[in-house]
Amino acid sequence: MIQLTINNKNISAAPGTTILEAAKQNGINIPSLCYMEGVHKFGSCRICSVEVEGARTLQVACMAEVREGMVVHTNSKKVLKARKVLYELMLSDHSQNCLSCNRNQSCELQQLGEMLGVTENRFSTSSARESIDISPSITRDLSKCILCRRCITACKGLQGIGILDAQNRGFDTVISPAMELPLGAAKCAFCGQCTIVCPVGALKETDHIARVWEAINDPDIRVVMQPAPAVRVALGEMFGYPVGTSVTGKMATAMRELGVDDVFDTDWAADLTIMEEGSEFLDRAIAVLSGKKAVLPIITSCSPGWIKYIESYYPQLLPHLSTCKSPHMMLGALAKSYYADKIGFDPKKMFTVSIMPCTAKKFEASREEMVNRDARNVDAVLTTRELGQMIKQAGIDFRNLEDGTFDDPMGQSTGAADIFGVTGGVMEAAIRTVYVLVTGRELPFEKLHVAPIVGLDQIKEATLKFENVLPEFKLFEGFEAKVAVTSGLAGAKILMDQIVVGNSPYHFIEVMGCPSGCICGGGQPRSEDPDVRIKRLKAMYSEDESKTLRQSHLNTSILAIYKDYLGKPGGHLSHELLHTHYVDRSKENE
Ligand code: FES
Repeated sequence: MIQLTINNKNISAAPGTTILEAAKQNGINIPSLCYMEGVHKFGSCRICSVEVEGARTLQVACMAEVREGMVVHTNSKKVLKARKVLYELMLSDHSQNCLSCNRNQSCELQQLGEMLGVTENRFSTSSARESIDISPSITRDLSKCILCRRCITACKGLQGIGILDAQNRGFDTVISPAMELPLGAAKCAFCGQCTIVCPVGALKETDHIARVWEAINDPDIRVVMQPAPAVRVALGEMFGYPVGTSVTGKMATAMRELGVDDVFDTDWAADLTIMEEGSEFLDRAIAVLSGKKAVLPIITSCSPGWIKYIESYYPQLLPHLSTCKSPHMMLGALAKSYYADKIGFDPKKMFTVSIMPCTAKKFEASREEMVNRDARNVDAVLTTRELGQMIKQAGIDFRNLEDGTFDDPMGQSTGAADIFGVTGGVMEAAIRTVYVLVTGRELPFEKLHVAPIVGLDQIKEATLKFENVLPEFKLFEGFEAKVAVTSGLAGAKILMDQIVVGNSPYHFIEVMGCPSGCICGGGQPRSEDPDVRIKRLKAMYSEDESKTLRQSHLNTSILAIYKDYLGKPGGHLSHELLHTHYVDRSKENE
């Protein structure tokens, strides 16, 4: 261990530790802005500057490593003055419309100014970068960008894509796609991880709030709303609940209080997805086991950021994708067909709203494939953050709401549906059902969990052996199904490269576009809790384990819709309403 002093406190730190990390481990807070724990590669803001005795210049604490005998001062007069000037220079080039900014009161630049005691703006107050870029999912306001480069780290370091980078030099520097193209013209997956890490209002989801209020306030329109599984374990954070608190019941009540007519649950459609996707896997596996041609591994298709990525970067692998639409699209399509028929309502006057932890779902909703019978499956997508904002705009006292429930016929769900919100969950849900269908027995694992694919590792895998199968599945006797799970596009790239070179050992792959899955999607509340991922993951599994039914094929309202309307999984009507096709985007905007 290396011995040093920070602010006259004797400290030991492991070799390779930065001054910033050593200080943090010992309860000393050095302000930072561009720093991102775990993926930080380049110090650009210099706000973390500290004085090191014997050094000629101030040192950047997030990059400088501890040395034996080092004497560090984090709050000397020289340091405080330098930080203040650095901050003022940043502010001089930052839009000043803070009161109307979406990040007002949750802006890290504002918080830093307060911490540094900046009470006046000595320099110019206009930004040299006046430009707004609105893509279907993400809006960039360059006048608010402080060039901290966190978005670059998220896009390149975390997701392995690298759409965003610093263009030009000096005062002309902008963070943007190559050649300053708009995001919509670049091969951006719209995952929104950049919107999570942006410390100011320069990157945010493209607003759908206004159109939802308009629909709610139109007496002729019937508004149908549905929240994704991961929304329920994060929405509470916007109302002061600890990270990892489930607020399912209050969320349902809040939607009703907003004026929504039908409060359905995307969880219901997650169970439906398992019926469709499970049957698709079985069909392809049976074909292969009987010596016919079919494309394996089959890859999940419920993450639209992932879909945009594979369409842009691996179009030759599109036949591997399941043809299932993502769950909220299935629900939207059925709301405007099955449900509209059932209640005798004109589907053209129905407005379907999805609450998603995801920014890419906004793009997905705008795809031309997501239309049935001349009606768009989903008319608007709100992120978890936007739903929280609407609840606040409506003056709803969220913490004191009674727990509500979801409406029939698309409100019932099993625990298998809940875990769609976390990496590994879709695969586990599929295995729970496929195993029963093939063997007639329940999965023999503790609490039905497929342990090797539970957790936050980038790539997880498991093998499932089928023995003593039902007579109609005799081809499966002794078959060892190999499955893999990844979350984040950097992990997806590793698994796709294996398929490209013919070296993939898997039969079934789950890919979620965001690291950890939807619990940390680009539309979730921003959190400073270092354990946010694991806390939200545990909350998802608690939701699952709290349910009486935990396997999708046991959902009675799903069985009812097959009996009354759809026929069978993979049947004609299912294909019309619940399945889709994909587009080669590799040549777009080249
Ligand atoms: Fe260290 Fe930005 S936080 S340079």
